[in-house]
This record gives sequence, C-alpha cells and structure tokens, in this order.
Amino acid sequence: MISVEPNLKAGLDASSRGHITIVVDVLRFSSSVVVGLAHGVAAITPVRTLKEARLLRKQNKGLILAGEREGLKPKGFQLGNSPSEFMRSDLDGKQIVMTTTNGTMALEYSKGSRWLLVGSFINARAVSEAASAISKKRKGISIILACRLGRFFLEDFLCAGLLVSNMTDRLTDMNDEARAARLAWLGVKSDFRKVVRKSEHAVYLREIGYEKDVELCLQRDTYDLVPHLKENKIIRL
Ligand code: MLT
Repeated sequence: MISVEPNLKAGLDASSRGHITIVVDVLRFSSSVVVGLAHGVAAITPVRTLKEARLLRKQNKGLILAGEREGLKPKGFQLGNSPSEFMRSDLDGKQIVMTTTNGTMALEYSKGSRWLLVGSFINARAVSEAASAISKKRKGISIILACRLGRFFLEDFLCAGLLVSNMTDRLTDMNDEARAARLAWLGVKSDFRKVVRKSEHAVYLREIGYEKDVELCLQRDTYDLVPHLKENKIIRL
C-alpha cells in the first residue's frame, strides 16, 4: 500500500502502522537536507524550537545552527533553511542543528517509523528506489506532506505524485490522495517548474529574496542521496 498523507501529523499514524515514511517539504527543508548531506555535512539534528536549538549550541560550540522562521534566518543562526547556503564548503564534516516551521515538525511526528526518509525533487529517484527496496518486506509506504495546520502545498503534492509514479510498478495499491497526486504529476510533469514557480510558497520565497533556492529545489534527480533519521540525527542512508 502506498499512501500520500497531506497532514503534518500523519506521521504518527503511519509510524504506528509500521509504514516506511518519506517526509516531503520541497520548499525548502527536504531540499536543504539533501544538499547539506551531499556537500559533506556529517549529520543534521532536527529540533522543534529555536530555544532547543540555541541550548544545544550553548552546550556544544562546534554545532552549527540552521533554520528559519517565516522563511528568514533566525537571530544568531549561522545558516538559514537555504539549500544554496548548505553548499558552503566549510560545512564538511560538521554537525548541524536545524529547526524549521513545517519540515522539522513533520519529521518530529514521524519519528516512530523504523524507516524515516527525506524526499524532494532533487533526490526523487534515489528516495523512491530506497523506499521500494525497503518495502520488499511488504511494508506500506506513507508519503507525508509537510503541510502546515492542514494547509495544502502544491509543490509537495506534485513531488509526492512523482514519487508515487516512480514506485507504482510494484505497489499498485494506493489511497485516493496518492492517486490524485500521481494524476496531478502526470498532468504537469513536462511543465512542473512553471507550475510550482506560481505556488504560494514559491512566490513568497521569491519576494523575500530566495529565488535561487526556488530554482535549486526544482531541479530533478540531481542528487543520488537519501537522507534518513537514525537516533534523532539525519544522516545518509
Ligand atoms: C518549512 O519547514 O516550513 C519550510 O521549509 C519553510 C521554508 O521555506 O523555509
């Protein structure tokens, strides 16, 4: 069974069903994590609040703080939630603590999953292959969309559709949301960048100066890397 779950808290249910979960937050949490790990970051610890992040840094000055509130880098943080900033060469081997509005929260609710992966357009093929391989043991796959308080994000829905269409050769049983996401993806796939550029969050990010990030997040399969959560750290699978 493959399901798309457009709800921040859906990971709680998915975990209790024993599903493999893939958290999708294209703009920009998932994409930042993929880019960071690809550029040598050793591990990313997701936390819920700015306070928790600052406390961890106080205890260990070697940690780097990353994240956003309303899209912007919080005071005293070294990095925003920005894939282009995660390309910095001085991050090699570093440990990052990260807090974002939706992405790290979606991850938080899914923590009970034995397999918790992070997916985006930039690693879509890799994450689909990894989830399919793990699910050979007949487990279901839940794709959790990092929607905030029930609000729908077009870019995450379309990315979920791409993941579903990558995986449906073997797993044809799916929920209605997965069917809808797949149909939406198939309908726009040749033009998906144009469509996503008009989405609410993409427009907002451009307005606050992150056009480069939006373009970076809309690349497809640029990274053959799958982030997964192990002992509360996101590392490469
Ligand atoms: C989030 O986690 O809420 C997003 O990734 C927000 C953002 O684009 O920074």
